[in-house]
Amino acid sequence: MSLKGRPEGESTPKRVSAEGSPVSLRRITVLVSGRGSNLAALADASLQPGFAGAVTHVVSNRPHAAGLEIARQRGIATAVVEHSDFASREAFDAELARVVDRGEPDLVVLAGFMRVLTDTFVARYEGRLLNIHPSLLPAYPGLHTHRRALADGVKVHGCTVHFVTPAVDVGPIVVQAAVPVLPGDDEATLAARVLEQEHRVLPAAVRWFCAGRLVLDAGHVSVQDAVATVGALLCPPPDPI
Ligand code: GRF
Repeated sequence: MSLKGRPEGESTPKRVSAEGSPVSLRRITVLVSGRGSNLAALADASLQPGFAGAVTHVVSNRPHAAGLEIARQRGIATAVVEHSDFASREAFDAELARVVDRGEPDLVVLAGFMRVLTDTFVARYEGRLLNIHPSLLPAYPGLHTHRRALADGVKVHGCTVHFVTPAVDVGPIVVQAAVPVLPGDDEATLAARVLEQEHRVLPAAVRWFCAGRLVLDAGHVSVQDAVATVGALLCPPPDPI
């Protein structure tokens, strides 16, 4: 499987700071299976001044994933490792790791990558593997999170960026965003409200990672120099007094 669009072994990407000096950027590889809207949000955010990372590679397990086109439009190298070509999860993950490693990533981001990864793969990228999940973990790991939230009648739902550990959708939480569940919501309206926040928290988490501001200690993440906010989301809100 070849990486297209970027010569292999290219050195660390750089950007020029506001002061005119070159800044080394962390190399980011994003794994996608479908639409790629989180990839687009991350790639676009990474172009902002002060963002010390660049999406250098995108890898998909599906050859027709729209996320691949999003990458190509932005000049990002792409590769496909089709899971259906492999007899076992282990064999697929071994090839996936081989292709990912060729991008020499400092960080690997799962952005709608719809494959359960083996412990071996996860261990290889320990501490530099992030996932975006469409629920407020630990509530609703797995699939159909919005449908399940609606079925339970929860009033607050949301999304989570977390470091990946061997168990699915478990792992140290970096950042979460909460949204109200509104009367009349269906799966599509709730998913859209959550997705809007995914597009904020994923770039935020990656920006912190690239700046070296995420501290992982005893399974908990703290964000150095994060601004503390106090506030509450009440759904539905109480009547005004
Ligand atoms: C997102 O909701 C993400 O949280 C989930 O899969 C979806 C992918 O969407 N894991 P996109 O491909 O980023 O548009």
